[in-house]
Amino acid sequence: MKIIRLIKEMSNFSCLSRQKGKTIGFIPTMGALHAGHLSLIRCARKENDLVVVSIFVNPSQFGPKEDFKKYPRNLKKDADLCKNEGVDVIFYPLVTGIYPAGFKTYVEVKELSDMLCAKSRPGHFKGVATVVTKLFNIVLPDTAYFGQKDAQQAVIIKRVVMDLNLAVRIKVMPIIREKDGLAMSSRNAYLDKKERKSAAVLYMGLKKAEGLIKKGAVNPQYIIRRMKNIIEKERAVKIDYISIVDAEDLRPLKRIKGKILLALAVRIGKVRLIDNLIING
Ligand code: PAF
Repeated sequence: MKIIRLIKEMSNFSCLSRQKGKTIGFIPTMGALHAGHLSLIRCARKENDLVVVSIFVNPSQFGPKEDFKKYPRNLKKDADLCKNEGVDVIFYPLVTGIYPAGFKTYVEVKELSDMLCAKSRPGHFKGVATVVTKLFNIVLPDTAYFGQKDAQQAVIIKRVVMDLNLAVRIKVMPIIREKDGLAMSSRNAYLDKKERKSAAVLYMGLKKAEGLIKKGAVNPQYIIRRMKNIIEKERAVKIDYISIVDAEDLRPLKRIKGKILLALAVRIGKVRLIDNLIING
């Protein structure tokens, strides 16, 4: 397994591989790899000749008060995991490589980047869309793999690919959960024991909503109220938002119909967690 730091070297590797007819599967990450990432890597390994994983803690997607500096970084551990999964290349660029002096161009997706998580993380999705577009242009993947946990991110990336005619297929893979239902996330590592226990309530809330919808509930406000009742029982958990939106375009829904995304974000202590379920209403 190669670890490539330089953009030029990564581009050359990808160009040459594609000239030889090899397909490239790509998993963009910020490191701190967990079982969720590994499921993406395994799928990419099955479907492609070559697998590239990028590890880049992207400063432009963190707000000034967010955890950019203390975001977990452990290249050695991540590299061991990647090697075990048969990854061919870890692309581990420098911040000054991705954002050289004078950098001024950003990718902004109107509307989709202003709702849900963007309300408490302004500018976040502009940073994500920009770095992912750059990474696609450098790595030249045939297919890029994303997790459904970051549902809004996945919708935005698909929009970027469509709007900018990027030649990459986007595959969104199911959320991987802990035994008690908590969605796997690099940020779970910040939770202390008590907070970790409280976090199980998120999945309980989502499952409650699913149950109500399956029994015929169609009023989003009613469903959200019932979810709040469950989640707020855990005093440590502060709800940022709970929303019911169209799964494809994140449009808020007045009535449950079709493929819906039930999305939520909470704070537990200093940790912000997100989760969601897709339900066919
Ligand atoms: O989902 C993530 O880890 C990041 O947002 C991504 C897609 C790697 C962009 O920095």
